[in-house]
Amino acid sequence: MTAIEQELISTDQKIERGFLVGVELKGRPGLWRVEDSLAELAQLARTAGIQVVGQTVQRLERPRPATYIGKGKVEELQLLKGELNYDVVIFDDELSPRQERELEEALDVKVLDRTALILDIFAQHAHTKEGQLQVELAQYEYRLPRLTRMWTHLARQVGGAAGRGGIGGVGLRGPGETQLETDRREIRQRIARLRRELEQVRTHRRLYRQQRKQAAIPVVSIVGYTNAGKSTLLNALSGADGSAERSPRSVLVEDKLFATLDPTTRRVTLPEGREVLFTDTVGFIQKLPTQLVAAFRATLEEVEEADVLLHIVDITHPNAREQCLAVEETLAELGVAGKPRVTALNKIDKLLGERAYGLKVNPGELGASEAVRGVMALYPDAIPISAEWGIGLERLLERVEEVLNMAAIAIRVCIPYQAGDLLALFHRHGFIETEEHTPEGTLVEGRIPSRFLAAFRPYLA
Ligand code: GTP
Repeated sequence: MTAIEQELISTDQKIERGFLVGVELKGRPGLWRVEDSLAELAQLARTAGIQVVGQTVQRLERPRPATYIGKGKVEELQLLKGELNYDVVIFDDELSPRQERELEEALDVKVLDRTALILDIFAQHAHTKEGQLQVELAQYEYRLPRLTRMWTHLARQVGGAAGRGGIGGVGLRGPGETQLETDRREIRQRIARLRRELEQVRTHRRLYRQQRKQAAIPVVSIVGYTNAGKSTLLNALSGADGSAERSPRSVLVEDKLFATLDPTTRRVTLPEGREVLFTDTVGFIQKLPTQLVAAFRATLEEVEEADVLLHIVDITHPNAREQCLAVEETLAELGVAGKPRVTALNKIDKLLGERAYGLKVNPGELGASEAVRGVMALYPDAIPISAEWGIGLERLLERVEEVLNMAAIAIRVCIPYQAGDLLALFHRHGFIETEEHTPEGTLVEGRIPSRFLAAFRPYLA
């Protein structure tokens, strides 16, 4: 292990005291109320191990180029420092390297933004090699423009207590002091190496997907806002059908944001007997920086390759509708918004209590809170469930089956020349990506509505 690698993932024990700052731009109200967004930021901070000691909101015409917030607000923060003894200030929006530097100078504490916080949580939760590579790459890319003497000085000051190599603390986990002092060129080289390693991982994954394609097992990718219940649902589904291919360790379920970073796959049998694979993916979140979406491309390719998306919504969250819209935005960014979909409204036990055990809960019974109404307007066909209590899962699987029956499945087949009618069928009902004549027959790759799958099964290549 190189010195650079040793610096990664600090073991810093000190609980940091964090102060949160949100900004509302006048005349440009965002989808989220600034208070709601700050509540989420507080949860992110707690997930990262920070104790939140206070917060403030400033309403501004536009962010200040030097310090993001106004001069008066900076002074207010300086005063509050004596009172609250915070050691990190966290901004809800992305700061420019200059803003971050100037704020650190003015406040003499570490300053983080939402992106740095998310990256930090990712660094803590990535367990597979792939996940770690992706986080490391995103961290270097984020840090590169922010490498300054000032930053190094603060890193030493804040993380000095217990961190490995004398550095650490939230937002500074990952590339440590040594890197900060190495020149940018070395970091660029490291980025290039990480990219190459990730490319190898992607190739490996591609091969794995190719095998899945050969087996023609449809893939359902579970997507949702962070903490919506994706891992809980995956656990429940793989137990619900009785034929689960159990892993030694069930999927991690935690009431923390981004407990799941690495995709996990489970085989599930649908009511009519067909097998499908369900995969869990990284949770989505509002203001997820594009660079992070890009960093997780390899993981998110699972979503791109899925036959059906199962969108799980925490219907009890007061911002359920806003969360749905954030998920839609990310799906659109990934170019998969048009994929066949099933939507599940999760955690109905919290809304209905004992009544949730009624065999068929109708969406109309979920009450008329603003969040419920907002989500129902977006997804009128959504299925109410409780992943934790195992309610509504059969109906959910039935719906997945219905949608799959209509969805097109990716396959690769070698159709013998004497079975010309099958090739014609593929042309008529499927989408052909490649077609090649071989001595054995016509080798076709593409997607076919799954109701025709059985006819092609003998010729899977
Ligand atoms: P990320 O890894 O952050 O993306 O989260 P996730 O979507 O995988 O959520 P996870 O399954 O970890 O669940 C988040 C929290 O919600 C956990 O505390 C679960 O116990 C809880 N939860 C999940 N499903 C239900 C449910 O049906 N009812 C209730 N009451 N709680 C649930």
